[in-house]
Amino acid sequence: MKLLHVVGARPNFPKLAPVHRAATRLGLVQTVVHTGQHYDDAMSANFFRDLGIPAPDVNLEVGSGSHASQTARIMERFEPVLIAERPDWLVVYGDVNSTMATAIVAAKLGVRIAHVEAGLRSGDRSMPEEINRLVTDRLANLLLTPSTDASATLRAEGEPDDEIEFVGNVMIDTLFTALPNAEATGYARRMGADGTHVAVTLHRPSNVDEPVRLASIISALEQISQTRPVIFPAHPRTRARIADMGLSTGHIQLVDPIAYHEMLDLVRGAHVVVTDSGGLQEETTALGVPCLTVRENTERPITITEGTNRLMPDPAQLVAGVESAVRPTVRRSPEGWDGHAGERVALALSRR
Ligand code: UD1
Repeated sequence: MKLLHVVGARPNFPKLAPVHRAATRLGLVQTVVHTGQHYDDAMSANFFRDLGIPAPDVNLEVGSGSHASQTARIMERFEPVLIAERPDWLVVYGDVNSTMATAIVAAKLGVRIAHVEAGLRSGDRSMPEEINRLVTDRLANLLLTPSTDASATLRAEGEPDDEIEFVGNVMIDTLFTALPNAEATGYARRMGADGTHVAVTLHRPSNVDEPVRLASIISALEQISQTRPVIFPAHPRTRARIADMGLSTGHIQLVDPIAYHEMLDLVRGAHVVVTDSGGLQEETTALGVPCLTVRENTERPITITEGTNRLMPDPAQLVAGVESAVRPTVRRSPEGWDGHAGERVALALSRR
């Protein structure tokens, strides 16, 4: 059996790693295609290195662009690759443009599609990722879900039972594997993080492309930075917006994007994480670290009902939210977030 994995953007890479490893152990033939949606070393190559994923066999080098042009470029460049490779399964991850674009190409060429992280819904179609999730799940032939609520969502949408398989959360496999290496980086200590610190990431257009909203988030973080270390590895777009607007960042330690292990070191010891990332909502739940998600909704409600996540739609509440955050005394973990999800994905594929 031959698998063709597609990845393109930073959050895809920790999801590919455990699936690729498990499929190798089962003797499946694998090709990795990187679309090049993310291309800076800090957003891509450093993750391949940290996660021990073999270098991509093909890089489509699509780069940045509007949603339509990026999606179109991925489709155009991916089609000949898929025709040449003719895999038994296209395996796509998460909800980025690369996920949806390559799923459309495969559907039209009659190549079966497996979607890892199927069934997540924010219910908010102003989010580009929500469109990507809906389209990808409608086209996929095997819906591999990270949580039982995601399986229930797909059933409610009318997906056939035999196409849905609950496998658990592959990102948590990577998290568990990486913890010793994260600690060994000493990154948090070097940054002056002392356990009272706040780790921040923000990149959603709804936060960083809205000037009034971005200003109020940065103002809240600036206030927090008067009393605690606030360490903010910023996505290139976020950094550009902050600079364009000339926002005062006070004591906030604004740094370039950091590699996977360094980020994990910063997060695991944090007092609280402030984010709009999907992955961090899950990682903080698995680590038992309080998380404040600067959004009105989440496609990962299980991180609220069974984890440490709280939605913070109003940035003005961030200061109080950070001060009142406490680590849970008993750490709960959603079912299937156990470090073996990658093996279940590979098994599900090899059985079909
Ligand atoms: C993408 C994903 C998002 C994911 C995020 C993680 C979509 C719709 N969005 O958003 O779901 O959470 O990645 O980071 O697929 N840029 C660089 N260097 C890079 C890549 C991007 O500087 O290596 C800058 C460019 O100015 C680019 C901008 O970031 O225009 C946006 O990049 P893009 O890939 O379009 O979307 P992200 O915001 O990164």
